[in-house]
Amino acid sequence: MENSLIIALDFANKSEIERFLTPFEDRKLFVKVGMELFYQEGPAIVHQLKEKGHQIFLDLKLHDIPNTVKSAMKGLARLECDLVNVHAAGGREMMEAALEGLEAGTAAGRTRPNCIAVTQLTSTSQEQMNKEQLIPVTLNESVLHYASLAKDAGLDGVVCSAWESEIIHNQTGSSFLTVCPGIRMETDLVGDQKRVATPEFAKNTGVSAIVVGRSITRSMDPVKSYDQWIRAWRGVQQ
Ligand code: C5P
Repeated sequence: MENSLIIALDFANKSEIERFLTPFEDRKLFVKVGMELFYQEGPAIVHQLKEKGHQIFLDLKLHDIPNTVKSAMKGLARLECDLVNVHAAGGREMMEAALEGLEAGTAAGRTRPNCIAVTQLTSTSQEQMNKEQLIPVTLNESVLHYASLAKDAGLDGVVCSAWESEIIHNQTGSSFLTVCPGIRMETDLVGDQKRVATPEFAKNTGVSAIVVGRSITRSMDPVKSYDQWIRAWRGVQQ
């Protein structure tokens, strides 16, 4: 999990995925299946990606009453993904229920998927959080609060921006995972993301894993782009 580069497979359907993955030939990747793809293709897409040997982050960001999240996670555990997530805003009881569901759905002798909590989306700005969510603190304070709540609930880590990874690790310890989207090369388009950072910054601030979507998936040459990303992300640690 540590040092992973997770490719966000934000595609609409299976054929687009196949078109994207074919040039990678037999390489084993860590991929993220989000709601766009999962709602279209269902669990079958997870099975297909697993059969090809890829690791999977199933990014469905569950946020509902504890009982519903528990049952949903029990079902998702059977897909044997490596990483799943919830929204920390659902509260401690909901996060504990998510873990109970995952434990219940994991076959004997197998390890349950890691479960992380979304703190504040990387597309959320401080102004938006203050005005729309009516949370009257700084983004860092809100993210840190959610990270502590997730840790207390027993979760394995959080989704956050690279800008918050260091303060989270200072508070929760370095083994608590910080999985960071909103990562961009200097030359990339930012798009709808607000709290972006470069892969070098992410590595230097102790980010556990980065999630990269459009910079790779919409590149003219995704394999070349992936290799450049791997060098930028893993290279600076040497
Ligand atoms: O294309 P881009 O690199 O911005 O993709 C980022 C991916 O990470 C998207 O799939 C998005 O849903 C996901 N994500 C995020 N911010 C979060 C949690 C997940 O951008 N807090």
